[in-house]
Amino acid sequence: MTHAPLRILLLCHSFNSLSQRLFCELRALGHEVSVELDIADRVTEEAIELFRPALVIAPFLKRLIPASVWQRQPCLIVHPGPVGDRGPAALDWAVREGHADWGVTVLQANEAFDAGPVWAHAGFAMRAAAKGSLYRCEVTAAAVDAVLRSVTQFAAGGTCGGRPEPQRASIWRSPLRQAERRIDWSGDTTATVLAKIRSADGQPGVHDELFGQPCHLFDAHAATSHAFATSPPGALIGRRDGAVLRRTTDGAVWIGHASLAAACGGKAFKLPCELAFGAAFEALPALPVPLERASDEWGEIRYRELGAPGARVGCLSFEFYNGAMSTAQCHRLLTAWRDATSRDTRVLMLLGGADFFSNGIHLNCIEAAAHREGDSAADESMRNIEAMDDLAEAVIRTTDRLTIALLRGNAGAGGAFLALAADEVWAHRGVVLNPHYKNMGNLYGSEYWTYLLPRRLGAEGAVALMAGRLPMGAPQALSIGLIDRCMGVAAPDFEALAITEAIALAAAHNIDDRITAKGRRRANDEEKRPLADYRRLELSRMHRNFYGFDPSFHIARYHFVHKLPMAWTPRHLARHRDGLKAASAE
Ligand code: COA
Repeated sequence: MTHAPLRILLLCHSFNSLSQRLFCELRALGHEVSVELDIADRVTEEAIELFRPALVIAPFLKRLIPASVWQRQPCLIVHPGPVGDRGPAALDWAVREGHADWGVTVLQANEAFDAGPVWAHAGFAMRAAAKGSLYRCEVTAAAVDAVLRSVTQFAAGGTCGGRPEPQRASIWRSPLRQAERRIDWSGDTTATVLAKIRSADGQPGVHDELFGQPCHLFDAHAATSHAFATSPPGALIGRRDGAVLRRTTDGAVWIGHASLAAACGGKAFKLPCELAFGAAFEALPALPVPLERASDEWGEIRYRELGAPGARVGCLSFEFYNGAMSTAQCHRLLTAWRDATSRDTRVLMLLGGADFFSNGIHLNCIEAAAHREGDSAADESMRNIEAMDDLAEAVIRTTDRLTIALLRGNAGAGGAFLALAADEVWAHRGVVLNPHYKNMGNLYGSEYWTYLLPRRLGAEGAVALMAGRLPMGAPQALSIGLIDRCMGVAAPDFEALAITEAIALAAAHNIDDRITAKGRRRANDEEKRPLADYRRLELSRMHRNFYGFDPSFHIARYHFVHKLPMAWTPRHLARHRDGLKAASAE
């Protein structure tokens, strides 16, 4: 960093992926960063008084910053749209209207939404993807670029690259209403249906009907055309991986998730269609596909092999919506892992989704079990964590080849520890990890973390990481030994580069020695303390979280699934509330 570190307050509606990434990037540059959630004007004012930041950055806000703050204090707003675009649904419109290019603007807060002078902006090419995916990938990369340039410019007193430029012309775009998103199943093509659903995904979804029940749709993918050509548009024609296949005028789309009040005790939240519609879903014909298949044939799990005979690399990828892994998904992935380990490969890579590697057990499916007769959230939590553990164990016990977890996207809670089950963890520099469980109602956690983490960080390091509860960028994770490689490439180039490196690794002269050594290490570890023992201890603590007298996990899960607003900023984020001494001692 060429300028003195600044004290920066991140003010955000929630500490979302973009806020977390900026938190990591700014701290890595030496800035002193604290976080306040936008709960009430008085709370924001108090945070300013306590922290006295040089700069406030608002990566994700839903309300105006109070005049009492922006009039006294430079506040930078991150708007996910190009210069001149204003309004709360910037990305929704961009996806809905099929723009080829889009951008992010960093502007100074004033009395109106997105109307202040511009500090920096960055553009990107749009991708055919859901709004949430664009936000987590392209928008985040552009926002980091524009914010860091703004901070440099600010630290230089506005001299480096000039002062912020007033906006000359702007267009206010109102929220995109459900009426404008509505799907006409008898008239819309696949491209139109996808644009409508994707422009509303993650929130608010597109209001529609499935199996005669009103619901909101999410998680849509184009289907390849085959046997369904004779079904009329709008017809439901099959099921796969928890998703339903629905005919459009010129093809069909897979719809993976829906939210409907009926399946959720009267308060809707997203569920895999399989769970949301139960028997009606099961009555559709199953349309399974092999793990190895054409790249345009949708399915959650996929396998492919590369490299020369005798030095082959297997790539098992799983694209689970939002990185959440239900019991059924864990079972399907375990079957696929076993299948992959029966192949003749020297290296086996486990690739999570493009947006998330994994975020651990599926909290929405657990919440749904609370509303099912004869079931309970505690029982489903237990089934889900057992299934995650089975999967992690299978990865740990794969000793006849090298295994690599490839983090194309972020990983949180149990998902981060699932990655550690592999011999090596590789990520690109934009990945953010949340390798801890406590933020979810003080959950103890499993996935063999008590075995996997100390062997990388030592006992003290493991305790500190777990207690810290903070997000960590891949470069920092590499520096403490949590991961093995952090490639300095942009996310879109990462997978190809990593696979090239894995192919070289599989052909390396010492690969057999490495495989032998890892087998020996596993045998030694097992002799010292069997894996079953780690699991037993972790699950006994999890049993207490799920069935014990302290309901913290269930309360936290309920708040998370129903997206209830936070009433205060967690103390581990609001460093200014510890007092300035503690914050600057970091
Ligand atoms: N189960 C169900 N849904 C999950 C999930 C999980 N384990 N983890 C994330 N999601 C969903 C969120 O509800 C959100 O849904 P939306 O599309 O309806 O908005 C979406 O994934 C994105 O999550 P979000 O919290 O907005 O992403 P983020 O990048 O800002 O934050 C985490 C990432 C990991 C910090 C955060 O999602 C989290 O704390 N997840 C829970 C992790 C956990 O405790 N797992 C259980 C213990 S193993």
